[in-house]
Amino acid sequence: MLSYRHAFHAGNHADVLKHVALTFMLESFKRKDKPFVYVDTHAGAGLYDLRGKQAGKTGESAWGIGRIWDQQAKWPLLETYFQTIRSHNPDGKLRYYPGSPDIAAQLLRAQDKIILSELHNNEIDMLRGNMRGDSRVGIHHRDGFEALPALMPPTPRRGLVLIDPPYEVKDDYTYVVDTVSKAYKRWATGTYVIWYPLLAKKRDHSQVMVKKLAQQCDNLLVAELEVEAQQMELGMHGSGLAIINAPWQLDEQLKLTLPRLGTVLGLTEETKWTVEWRKQS
Ligand SMILES: C[S@@+](CC[C@H](N)C(=O)[O-])C[C@H]1O[C@@H](n2cnc3c(N)ncnc32)[C@H](O)[C@@H]1O
Repeated sequence: MLSYRHAFHAGNHADVLKHVALTFMLESFKRKDKPFVYVDTHAGAGLYDLRGKQAGKTGESAWGIGRIWDQQAKWPLLETYFQTIRSHNPDGKLRYYPGSPDIAAQLLRAQDKIILSELHNNEIDMLRGNMRGDSRVGIHHRDGFEALPALMPPTPRRGLVLIDPPYEVKDDYTYVVDTVSKAYKRWATGTYVIWYPLLAKKRDHSQVMVKKLAQQCDNLLVAELEVEAQQMELGMHGSGLAIINAPWQLDEQLKLTLPRLGTVLGLTEETKWTVEWRKQS
């Protein structure tokens, strides 16, 4: 049974990292007129009400987007990211937060394509509602791990895959590695972006997964942001992105952005950031 609902976490520090990086990458693909495809294996609902029951219960966005929303003029590098959120909040008050499919739909052009998979019965209904009328979008009510290799290589053969599972079960780490391995064999030139949580010592499996991903390709870019110190038993103190075939200059964009994001999103003095290339070993 699927219990994870992204509305509880929408707009938190992990969403900020993931969606800022996503806007950098989508803008980078748009530098050429050639069409490209955006694939989202774990799409979620597409749009979240931060004043809704679920988001209201955790209040996580207050420690994420809420910390930078009133400082937009100070963040020219994040202008595209803010623009995608402003479009849902025309009065300037932060209420609605776009998920990755909505951010992509806003940024992609008429010639581009969007492929979304989502397994949860409620989330898929909301996703369909939020994406309705957009002829660039194909939606699959399907396991994203199983769908990705089956859909590879995509048409057009230029583009970006976001793999963003809940990791509520340990198997997700293995599924990610297996899925990327199968997809990469069929489409080695695609950009693959894998999001992962940084969890308490006893529960964290991220670094084993990242190591296995690095063994599969020769250019893995890893970007991590820790907003507090790692605990022993519980909690998510940060998140990361492992990117295969990262767009040109993404590393430089992230190196400019992460230290500043760390300062603003940090919950304690123990904020850390990393942007580095991992080699096969
Ligand atoms: C972290 S959320 C996605 C957030 C979204 N990518 C964003 O950034 O806005 C993960 C989603 O994956 C869905 N999910 C869980 N297991 C799945 C699977 N095997 N295949 C597809 N979707 C799945 C969950 O229902 C949830 O909506």
